[in-house]
Amino acid sequence: MSGLLDKVSGTSADTIIINSSQLLTLEKDNKGTGALGSIKNGAVAIKNGLILETGTTSEIRKSYPDCSDVIDADDSLVMPGFVDCHTHLVFAGERSNEMEQRLGGKSYLEILGDGGGIHSTVRATRAASSEKLFVLGMERLDRMAMNGTTTVEIKSGYGLNEETELKMLQVAAQLRREHPLDIISTYLGAHTFPPDQSREEYLKWLSGKSLQLFKKEAEYFDIFCEEGAFSLEETKKLLESAKTAGFKLKVHGGQFNDLGSPGVAASLGAVSVDHLENISNEDMDLMAEAGTVAVLLPGVPFFLQSGKYPDAERFLKKGIPAALATDFNPGSCPSYSMQMMITLGVFYCSMSAADAVAAGTINAARAINRENEIGSLKAGKKGDLIILDIKNPEEIPYYFGTNLVKKTIKSGKIL
Ligand code: NIG
Ligand code: FE
Repeated sequence: MSGLLDKVSGTSADTIIINSSQLLTLEKDNKGTGALGSIKNGAVAIKNGLILETGTTSEIRKSYPDCSDVIDADDSLVMPGFVDCHTHLVFAGERSNEMEQRLGGKSYLEILGDGGGIHSTVRATRAASSEKLFVLGMERLDRMAMNGTTTVEIKSGYGLNEETELKMLQVAAQLRREHPLDIISTYLGAHTFPPDQSREEYLKWLSGKSLQLFKKEAEYFDIFCEEGAFSLEETKKLLESAKTAGFKLKVHGGQFNDLGSPGVAASLGAVSVDHLENISNEDMDLMAEAGTVAVLLPGVPFFLQSGKYPDAERFLKKGIPAALATDFNPGSCPSYSMQMMITLGVFYCSMSAADAVAAGTINAARAINRENEIGSLKAGKKGDLIILDIKNPEEIPYYFGTNLVKKTIKSGKIL
């Protein structure tokens, strides 16, 4: 922390943001009142892209009288930018036809089993050039930024072979270099089994050569443990190999069936388990013990109309941090909007508005090990903020389906 603070020490600010209705710091100890750490008529000072100080507007004005770059929030809510900690943002094609099939009664796993679903996007992504994937990625990141997201985790997993998994991870790296949003990369070769290799062959490549190959391209290893994808035993073995190779771990677990992957993941020190509609109390205890974050993706049961949502209350009661993310992907949730996920978290996952706002910011930052850099407003953290056209956080789910973002500020600069 002191390293970050050193960088911003000094008395001048590059930018101050003033006159909020309230500043949600998400820092309960920082002059905060209320569960989200709210400063009435709060303000922020930023230098070199990092937060210098938070306080009331009069305090910040007094501390930085010479600052000429003043952003007036005009009595609107100011809070940290959203952290979308689970997305499949790099892919080609779209699958609206499957939405129609599901409305006709076919399930997500049936479509996958018939060679559609993930396989359909694998075919389109293998056929697409890096240039095409990059352009699509830039457009999607722009849409996320307009909806208030300032950091995005991106998974591979629509290649299921060396060439295209590498292509996806390299496109993510190019997006990181060229788009203002921050991008975290995850290797998801274990998304499902490719149709053009035997199960044994693919497992061997996944647990061996691919880990060495992609170690420098991705921070996390992720796997889809589910009927029709990877079994619990395969998941355990692959997670162990990935951990040995130096990856941090994530798991798509408990989406449709409780196969027991959250407990296995937690025992191996996984940073997060994601989806979690179906999980035993025993596995929750293991997550609590390990400090594994529960990433809830309510856009998925909403879009798939699968009936069962993850229950945040169960996790929060056990002291497991609950995060929210879009899971943005062409099959199970083509939504760019963290505001929509907050709405769904409140109406379907037993979250309070405060729980849901924390889930989309500081707890989402925890799910990608970035809680010391982003997710709350505190001296030394990144100047990633949004100004919303409301006065109170409860109005995010209240005005559901509307983009309330007036300005997205990334590292102190308006996008
Ligand atoms: O997180 N569950 C598995 N993977 C993705 C969906 C991928 C797809 O359908 O293309 C998910 O929901
Ligand atoms: Fe996913």
